[in-house]
Amino acid sequence: MDKGLVDPFGRTISYLRVSVTDRCDLRCFYCMPEAFNSYEIPDNWLTFNEIERVVSAFSALGVSRLRLTGGEPLVRKGLPELATRLAALPGITDLSLSTNANRLVHDALVLKQAGISRLNVSLDSLQPKRFQLITKGKLDKVMAGLMAAKAAGFAPIKINMVVMQGINDDEVLDMVEFCLEHRFTLRFIETMPMGETGRNARDSYYLSLQTVKARLAEHYNLLPSIMEGGGPAQYYTIGDTGLKIGFITPISQHFCATCNRVRLGVDGTLYLCLGQEHSVALRPLLRAGISDVALQGVIRKALWLKPLEHNFNQTQTQVLRFMSMTGG
Ligand code: GTP
Ligand code: 5AD
Ligand code: SF4
Repeated sequence: MDKGLVDPFGRTISYLRVSVTDRCDLRCFYCMPEAFNSYEIPDNWLTFNEIERVVSAFSALGVSRLRLTGGEPLVRKGLPELATRLAALPGITDLSLSTNANRLVHDALVLKQAGISRLNVSLDSLQPKRFQLITKGKLDKVMAGLMAAKAAGFAPIKINMVVMQGINDDEVLDMVEFCLEHRFTLRFIETMPMGETGRNARDSYYLSLQTVKARLAEHYNLLPSIMEGGGPAQYYTIGDTGLKIGFITPISQHFCATCNRVRLGVDGTLYLCLGQEHSVALRPLLRAGISDVALQGVIRKALWLKPLEHNFNQTQTQVLRFMSMTGG
């Protein structure tokens, strides 16, 4: 039998994103409602053993890239231990983490030692007041976390900036300079309408990255480039600086035709697309004692549900779950 995971549209799935918690210690306004507390109950969280079983099944089916997400993954107790276990699984050649950096001062080194090879860090503003307005967090703490990650030897570190009209789009050039200074890779992201956070009308701040790219091209020589990673960003190098800038454009120029990924929620729900609700509940099967071979069969069959493309339009929320449930 063919080992690879291929969906009905001929796309091979090689990348699994595992959300280890739906909780977060920040509260970005585009991600979660301000007073959100309808978290999954701990009994429904996949245990580390269960996560390891699911990841093993995916790796037996040819998945080699794994990204740990949240919510904020470092909120899950014992995450470095989980990372160590997952990094040791045969077939997993790329273990990465997406984080808000709020706890990295404490965790950076231990994560490196645990076998996380790549870090992506959310950073939407370099201005403390504005950072607090967007995230409710403290910029100096996140900056200290970022520097701890750099000192721990993570390279490249990718900075994720969700660019929002009238909120932080005036900081695009500052962010380029900041990333040049620290040798970080910079990725700009278009805001996606996921979950009704009720905190700001999305149509007031959605900004096409085609506009941002045009603005940048007035200042810099953007040369098409490539970058290590399995994600959807389209990269450019800025002149001869070596700085790479990625554009993640789910709305203005979607990349669904080359999608290579699926997502596992903290409760063991397998989501076939970020921008659609198609899913399969794996937790009941795991807890009913499903065999490894049968689990692989369920995953293979789940792929039949993978839609051709997301269902986002520019501003209206079509996907009810919050971004924090699948970590992007
Ligand atoms: P690399 O492996 O380093 O390329 O990471 P990545 O870009 O896949 O992961 P990251 O968690 O840093 O995600 C960056 C942004 O891309 C987030 O806003 C994600 O929601 C978005 N993103 C990642 N994968 C997809 C996808 O399949 N579809 C859509 N629409 N957005 C995605
Ligand atoms: N649209 C686009 N990106 C989002 N992220 C969180 N919510 C959204 C959204 N609605 C980003 C975070 C983080 C990454 C994993 O996803 O800022 O960088
Ligand atoms: Fe937390 Fe990330 Fe959502 Fe911000 S975007 S609230 S850091 S999960």
